[in-house]
Amino acid sequence: MIHQHMKWEAPEFTDERILVIGGAGFVGSNLIKSLREHSPSEIVIVDNLLSSERSSVHVSPEITFIEGSIADDQILQGLTDDFGYIFHLATFHGNQNSIYDPLADHENNTLTTLKLYERVKNFKKIKKVVYSSAGCTFAENTLNQTVAIREDSPLPIYSDTPYQISKIIGELYSNYFYRQYHLPVVKVRFQNVYGPGEILGAGKWRGTLATVWRNVIPTFVYCALKKWPLIVENKGIATRDFIYVDDIIRGLMLCAIAGIPGEVYNLASGVETSILNVATLINCLTGNTAAIQYGPKRIWDHSNRRFGSTVKSKRELGFEAKTSLHEGLSQTIEWTQQNSSLIDACIQKHSVHMENAPCSERPLEMCRIS
Ligand SMILES: NC(=O)c1ccc[n+]([C@@H]2O[C@H](COP(=O)([O-])OP(=O)(O)OC[C@H]3O[C@@H](n4cnc5c(N)ncnc54)[C@H](O)[C@@H]3O)[C@@H](O)[C@H]2O)c1
Repeated sequence: MIHQHMKWEAPEFTDERILVIGGAGFVGSNLIKSLREHSPSEIVIVDNLLSSERSSVHVSPEITFIEGSIADDQILQGLTDDFGYIFHLATFHGNQNSIYDPLADHENNTLTTLKLYERVKNFKKIKKVVYSSAGCTFAENTLNQTVAIREDSPLPIYSDTPYQISKIIGELYSNYFYRQYHLPVVKVRFQNVYGPGEILGAGKWRGTLATVWRNVIPTFVYCALKKWPLIVENKGIATRDFIYVDDIIRGLMLCAIAGIPGEVYNLASGVETSILNVATLINCLTGNTAAIQYGPKRIWDHSNRRFGSTVKSKRELGFEAKTSLHEGLSQTIEWTQQNSSLIDACIQKHSVHMENAPCSERPLEMCRIS
């Protein structure tokens, strides 16, 4: 099936000023590509390039890029009350780095949300604020969960990582500012997003090899293209719900247009896929004949099987993920091949840190990339 770039009528964004925090990142840069198709008057990006590259920032007359943290008082004071939509996508990426540096996570994943909401709580023009939360935060800490995680599934109070705690706090602040100030925040919980634009090694060193080997799909695609063995943790029995980035972008925009303030929506494929199946499919699509190797379980990760419920977002937003894993992976592989020099350069800049980082769970090639 030929991939079609998503495009649909969304006059709501036309002539609007839109603020995208974290707009240089993987999801953010894809979102901006789509928002531009709807002729907003201006898109303002605030991003400190902690886990992204300047080259991912779109350059165009209608785009203003402010490099810095959204927790910076001067940047906050510079925001004026004429934004129609705000997408808050900034985060301290990701789970493992947040274990290594919980204070950096707090600064870039919790304080960011509080300071942003404090600044905009009395803005009059805002139609919607979309807050990106994470499905992993709401996964029960069980080893064999197979029930779809719904929006009203119980919130586990024993989180696996500071990242997950920050995401919960972000949701709680979203609820508070909605009730107290009528800030029209819609919360969106993503499952595992993958696709073009996720650059391994993007941004600054954040303490662990997860700076480089972000999520499982870009890591497997990169390694498979190098003909390295894919390392599957815990016998590959863990499952995840993989959702292609174009679907996430359409869902984010639908949440901005039709999401009800104060509500939360899952953006999920609803399909449970084992990590072993992902590895096998990627090897097949890239022609990688190196045998899969098995590594130990990640000690911090207590969520073995999980996937998101699609019922509410389908019923209330008409949202459904459309891209099959096969099609999405093919697109991701093609993009990775086309951008191999950029990805290699981004990985390479961390080589000094990688040499010294603990890497017992990774093949040697992945720790000594140079
Ligand atoms: N990718 C996924 O699988 C996934 C899953 C669940 C939730 N999410 C959420 O989606 C959002 C986007 O994720 P992504 O995958 O694009 O990650 P990303 O790391 O590519 O993007 C996050 C962006 O936020 C920026 N940032 C960090 N601290 C900042 C600060 N203090 N001020 C301004 N910008 C700052 C980073 O530089 C980066 O550009 C995040 O909130 C993340 O928690 C992503």
